[in-house]
Amino acid sequence: MLIKSAEFIKSAVKPSQYPSGTMPEIAFIGRSNVGKSSLINTLVNRKRLARTSSTPGRTQLINFFSINEAIAFVDLPGYGYAKVPESVKRKWGPMIETYLAHRSNLRAVVMILDIRRIPAAEEFALADWLARYHIASIWVLTKSDKLSRSKQQTQKRLIAEVLAVSEEKLILFSAKTKLGRDKVWQAVERLPDLTPVEQPRNGKR
Ligand code: GTP
Ligand code: MG
Repeated sequence: MLIKSAEFIKSAVKPSQYPSGTMPEIAFIGRSNVGKSSLINTLVNRKRLARTSSTPGRTQLINFFSINEAIAFVDLPGYGYAKVPESVKRKWGPMIETYLAHRSNLRAVVMILDIRRIPAAEEFALADWLARYHIASIWVLTKSDKLSRSKQQTQKRLIAEVLAVSEEKLILFSAKTKLGRDKVWQAVERLPDLTPVEQPRNGKR
């Protein structure tokens, strides 16, 4: 994908604040600090389009970005970080659920996993949820640069087993080395339905 433009559109916490319009959306979801914002920046060749941080819980709003004015990337707040205030944690679930369940622009979710970590309850819940709502998913194992080549393969096999998906479904990725960048784009471009939605926003899926 040739990136001609990549721009921040707006932040939102509820549907009335989502951008209007018909651009198809790809949402990025994963544990806090896993590297969601870094993945977005790598895909669009920008250093700081989506704000990254070594402090987990940085992204607490739903952030929308327009790519080539043709597709929107949606940076969702990360789950599972213990030190986020309780009030923020309580809002996270409903905020994400509302977005995923009802956003008619949504075409796929990129599920981002740390390659070093075996998926647990939250990941299973999200996977069930994506299946239940028939949301297409792309699975990315990030921070691969932190493991040797052979350890990458071992972890990939293990994670595929735990998630009960085929290994081909998991893309090894690194924001540091850009490993897997093209594969993630290919997976996005292979999505069947990247055309604009018929009904502008907020309609039920
Ligand atoms: P929240 O918005 O807080 O949930 O975090 P996030 O998932 O958006 O993570 P972010 O992209 O901010 O990255 C978190 C930290 O991990 C930063 O210090 C990044 O530099 C680092 N990081 C992200 N991706 C990679 C990667 O592929 N390799 C390495 N080595 N570090 C990475
Ligand atoms: Mg982030």
